[in-house]
This record gives sequence, C-alpha cells and structure tokens, in this order.
Amino acid sequence: MAKIIPVPLFDCVVFGATGDLTLRKLLPALYYRFRDGQMPSGARIIGAARTALSSEDYRVRAGQALEEHVAPGDLDPDVVSRFVATVHYAAIDAAHPGADWAALAALLDPARVRVFYLATSPSLYGSICRALAAAGLVTAQSRVVLEKPIGKDLASAREINDRVGDVFTEAQTFRIDHYLGKETVQNLLALRFANTIFERIWSSDVIDHVQITVAETVGVEGRGGYYDTSGALRDMVQNHLVQLLCLIAMEPPVSLHPDRVRDEKLKVLRALKPIQPHEVGTVTVRGQYGAGAVNGHPVGSYQADLGTGESSSTETFVALKVEVRGWRWAKVPFYLRTGKRLPRKVSEIVVQFRDQPFSLFPPEAGEKRPNRLVIRLQPEEGIRLEVMTKDPGPGGLRLSPTGLDIRFDTAFGMRFPDAYERLLMDTVRGDATLFMRRDEVEAAWTWVTPILEAWGNTVEVPRPYAAGSWGPTAAIALIERDGRTWNEDVG
Ligand code: BG6
Repeated sequence: MAKIIPVPLFDCVVFGATGDLTLRKLLPALYYRFRDGQMPSGARIIGAARTALSSEDYRVRAGQALEEHVAPGDLDPDVVSRFVATVHYAAIDAAHPGADWAALAALLDPARVRVFYLATSPSLYGSICRALAAAGLVTAQSRVVLEKPIGKDLASAREINDRVGDVFTEAQTFRIDHYLGKETVQNLLALRFANTIFERIWSSDVIDHVQITVAETVGVEGRGGYYDTSGALRDMVQNHLVQLLCLIAMEPPVSLHPDRVRDEKLKVLRALKPIQPHEVGTVTVRGQYGAGAVNGHPVGSYQADLGTGESSSTETFVALKVEVRGWRWAKVPFYLRTGKRLPRKVSEIVVQFRDQPFSLFPPEAGEKRPNRLVIRLQPEEGIRLEVMTKDPGPGGLRLSPTGLDIRFDTAFGMRFPDAYERLLMDTVRGDATLFMRRDEVEAAWTWVTPILEAWGNTVEVPRPYAAGSWGPTAAIALIERDGRTWNEDVG
C-alpha cells in the first residue's frame, strides 16, 4: 500500500464552530483522521463562534455531534474522549476586532501550521481576515479555508477574493469544493491519466456526448434562507458540476503540481461556450419542485418548505447543454442536470461513445447499445464500462449490453473517507491540488453570470415538477431533441 503523506503539527481554528457544517461534517471528518492516527499528537482544533461557551461546554457539543454524525460502529468511547480533549473554544465576534481576538492569539502556537477554516457566511470572510491580520495571527505557515459560495456573481466573487487577498496570498488560500475531495472524483484523474486506454479515445473522434447528473432526494432542509438567494445554478452548477466537467474535459497536465492541474481546469472553464441570451430558452431548463412523494413519503412543495408565505422564483432544478470549444470536444455536448427532491440520490458521469459505423449483426441479434463508461460518484462508488457481449448458450448469436464493473467498496473492502477528511488534511499539508484557485472561481462565474442575468430578464419562471420526479419534462426534451436520452439506469 502507498505511504500516507505525513501531516505536520497544526492548530485548526474553525469559525462558525456551532454551525451545521462544523458539527455535521468538519468535526466528524477530523475525528476519523484522529482515529486513523493521521492527526499528529498535540494537534488542536479550536472552535470559534459568537456564543459564550467554555471549552468544556464545546467539548460536550462536539461529542454530541460525533454521536449524531459518525456511524455508531466507528465510535470508540476511548478514541472519542481523546479526540474531544484536542478541542478548544474561543468566543469571538467574527465581525469585529476586539479583546476576544487577543485571547485567541494567546491560545495559538506560533511554531505550528495554522488553519483558519471559515465555515461562516461569506459576508464575514473579509472582516474575519482583517481581524486576523489586525490581531497579528497570520504567520507564514497560516492558511485560510473558504467554503462556497464564493460570491453570488462575478462582481461579488471578485470582491470576496480581493478582501481575502489583502491578508492571505493565493498559495495560502484554500477554496473548498467538497466534490473534489470525493474518492471517485479523485479517481477520475487516475482513470484518465494512469491508464493508456482511455486517453487515446478521449475526444470527439470516439465520444458522442457526456452526461453529468447530481440528483438529490432532499429538499432545502431548513437552509431556505440561504438557498432561496442562491438556487441550483449557483449552489451546485457553478462549482460542483462545472468542476466535474473540468476533470472530464481537461488536457493531461504536465505534472501533479497543484498549479499545473489547475491550469488545465482553468483552460476548460475559459473554453466553455458562453450561453447567449437568445439561447437560454433552448439550452437551459429551470425547475422548482411542487408537492409529491420521494421514496414513498409525501413531501411538500419548495414554497411550503420555505415557509415564508411568499412566492419564490428560485430554481431547485437545472438542466443545461454545454459546449466546450476546441478541437478535442467539438460537437460533443455535455448535458448537465442537478436538482432537489428527485427520486434518488445519485451522482454520476456517463461518457457515451459513438455508435458503430456499420453493424455486422442483424436486428434479431438484439438491442445494440453504444458503449458507455459510467463513473458513479455516489452511492455505490465505482466505474462501469458497458460493452456488448454474446448471450451465453447455443441457438444463434444474440447480443446484450454487459458491464465491466469495478465497485470500489468490494474491490478495496474499506470505508471510503468523506471528502472533508481528505481536504482538511491536504489543507494542513499545504497541498492545493483539490482546491479552486481564484482564477478558476472567477472563470466559472464569468460563464454562469450571463445565464443568471438572462433568467432575470425574462418573465418566465422555473417550470414546476412534482417532488419525486426527474424534473420538468423540458429537461427530457433538452436532450431528446438531439436524439439522445438521459441514462435510463438512473432515471
Ligand atoms: C452542497 C450544497 O454544496 O452540496 C447542498 O450547498 C447540497 O445544497 C450538497 O445538498 C450536496 O453534497 P453531497 O456531497 O451530499 O452530494
């Protein structure tokens, strides 16, 4: 087995320590790294938030968060108590410099790597960074981690990046897109660049089109305040789906140096064909869920979930047809779709190869499907190459599609680490390969912002779809118009 790269001694200060992200994702991720012996002895986690709590109170909360969000079989009481002993708390008003910042300064060890994780509203990023600088907390060994959304359009993203950039260098800035930390997403790099067979067929010569689906069964789950100002395009497409597209479409980087990998992703972002206002009605579909049933349970509409009593025109579903300009991908559309309250939670990429130029087999031989490579990000992570094979047995030559399958759980027989586990440790190590560089974020907004503007300039509102369906019928028409269909094995 390859050796795990060691992690230096660190202090990790998490702003937004009492928030959902910290309790649901960050503390459990750090617990797993601690349990597996990856957190160096003496490393500390310092929760920072406005609520007046003692470190002892916060440790109790951290313990509760682990009970709720770590699989029961993975909770070892002895490990839990040693882990919570690494947790401290600083009550801080993130929006204003003051004496509480000096107290935080007194807690930190200048010789260690310092991670400042901003799990707060992005509106606080600028003021937190300023206060960190004013309190003299930013050492050469410091890094800042920014959660998405970084802005709500190009101008606001630039503003946030400028304010953070006043204090931290780009090399110290780690913009998280947790999709990049998912095991199968990292596997895309291995699949494409550690094998000879795929790269040779990775172009419009052999590939017909690509589909990227990120479907969720959940609704807005109490996040309506944020979500209603965001919508699916900003919340999912601008970052997660576009990053997946980049990993599929990018040229091979010359090395695994973080900037060489990100340079290639940036080129893809810049090659995305801008969607013109007059095309928005044909190559984009917006939807909003109404009442329906998911997994057999009745669920309410988006408007009911918001509970404000006001009508909203925020989209909870988006489908897009995207073009990547350049020789490799000319005439190879990328179809993207994502939505809430769809029938299944599934994220996958389908690379569909071109049909055979000539078929040797008569129609009686059965259905002939073009080959497909299906990369399943979640659940049941794996890669499946669909090929045509002969049905076994005598009585003629009949064909059926069959899969050459790698299911990662059975192939490796181990727990898959959560994306945040990998990304947190990479931050401490200072490895930015799986993080978004400023120019990438801004290039993604450059492409997305005109779509938002065009939507804002029409009187049309998102099309309704019943919760538990695969989105508005217009999303099916979007791909079928081109003589193609969404992967039916998913929906
Ligand atoms: C987040 C979005 O970035 O990703 C959420 O803000 C979404 O709205 C989530 O639910 C999906 O992540 P995952 O890892 O569950 O697919």
